[in-house]
Amino acid sequence: YRRLRVALLGAGSVGSQVAGLLRQHADELADRAGARLELVGIAVRDVDAPRDVELPRELLTTDAETLIVGADIVIELMGGIEPARTYVLQAINSGADVVTGNKALLATHGPEIFDAADQVGAEVYYEAAAAGAIPIIRPLRDSLAGDRVQRIMAIVNGTTNYILDRMDTEGAEFADVLADAQRLGYAEADPTADVEGFDAAQKAAILASLAFHTAVPLDAVHREGITAIDKSMMDSARHAGYVIKLLAVCERLTGPEGESISVRVYPTLIDRAHPLASVHGANNAVFVQAEAAGNLMFYGAGAGGVQTASAVLGDVVSAARRHIAGGVGVGESTLANLPVVPVGRV
Ligand code: NDP
Ligand code: HSE
Repeated sequence: YRRLRVALLGAGSVGSQVAGLLRQHADELADRAGARLELVGIAVRDVDAPRDVELPRELLTTDAETLIVGADIVIELMGGIEPARTYVLQAINSGADVVTGNKALLATHGPEIFDAADQVGAEVYYEAAAAGAIPIIRPLRDSLAGDRVQRIMAIVNGTTNYILDRMDTEGAEFADVLADAQRLGYAEADPTADVEGFDAAQKAAILASLAFHTAVPLDAVHREGITAIDKSMMDSARHAGYVIKLLAVCERLTGPEGESISVRVYPTLIDRAHPLASVHGANNAVFVQAEAAGNLMFYGAGAGGVQTASAVLGDVVSAARRHIAGGVGVGESTLANLPVVPVGRV
C-alpha cells in the first residue's frame, strides 16, 4: 500500500483514543482505506502529561507547526478556536485534508475554513463535530440531499443529558454529576460550554446549515443552558409525566413573508412517552422530520473519547480514499470492491 502521513493535533479524551485505534487497527484500516495510515506525530501542550491511552513518547511533540508540514491528513482534536484555526488553515494551505471534531471552530469560522479548502481542492471532514459517534453529518448532507427537511429535534450534548438524566433518575446534585461527566471525558475543556448550551448551539448551527442548505450563523441561534434547573424542577416535571432535556430545535417556518429558519437550544419538558425522553446517560438522539422520508431517528453515544474516535476514524478513512483516488470525487469504495468473506467467519 501507498503510505499516507497522518498528523494528530491533540491527545486528550478523543485524540488519545484515535491514536490508539490508528495503531491497534493499522492493518485493517490500510485494507479499508487502500493506504497505510502512518501516524507521524502527535502535537500536545505537555509531552509528559498522563494519557488515557499509552502512546510512544517519540511521537509526542509540542511543535504542531512543524508536524503539519508534509502531512497528507491532519486530524485536529485540540478544541477551541486558536491555535486550532491557524493550524487547520495551515494544514489546508499545505495540501492536507483535515479531519476535525471541533464544532466551536466550525460554527464560528466554518465559512473561512471551507473557502480555504475549496480554493486549494482540499476537503474538511467533521462527522465528530455533532453528536459524537452518531453518523449525522453525512446523512443530512448527502443521504437527505434530495429531500426537504422540515424540522430537527435533537439532544446533541452528552454532558448535559448525562447530568439531567442522573438528576432525574437518582436525584443527584448538579455539581457532583458535572464532575463525573468531566472525569468520564464527556465535557468540554471549559464545561461552561456544555452547561450553558454553547456547545449544543454550535452543533445546532452546523446541523441546521446542512439540513436547510444555508449558512446559519451561531449568533442566530437562541441559546439557554441548564444551570437554572434544580431538583425541585426535575421532581415537578416527573410528577407531571415529563422529563427535562436540553433540546436543539431547528425548523423551517412558513409565514406571510415566505420561509424562514428558526434554531434554538433550551431546556424542554418532554412527554415521557416521546422517544427523546428515553435517551439516557451521555447518549444523543437526532429526530429528523423530512417531507418525503417522514420521521427518522439517529441515536447513540453523543460524547466519550473512544466513541467519538469511531467518527473521527471514519473520516480519516474517507480522506485517505480521496487521496488515493487523486483528490477527485470522494473515492469511497463500492460494494463491488469489498473482499468476499464466508458468512460465519466475519
Ligand atoms: P481534551 O481537552 O481532552 O484534549 C485536548 C488535547 O489538545 C490535549 O491533548 C491537549 O494537550 C491538546 N492541546 C490543547 N491545546 C493545545 C495547543 N495549543 N497546542 C498543542 N496541543 C494542544 O479535548 P477532547 O479530546 O475532549 O476534545 C477534542 C475536540 O473534540 C474538541 O474540539 C471537542 O469539542 C471535540 N469533541 C469531543 C468529544 C468528547 O466526548 N470529549 C466528542 C466530540 C467532539 P495536553 O494533553 O498536553 O494538555
Ligand atoms: N462536550 C460534548 C458533549 C462532547 O458533552 O456532548 C461531544 O461533542
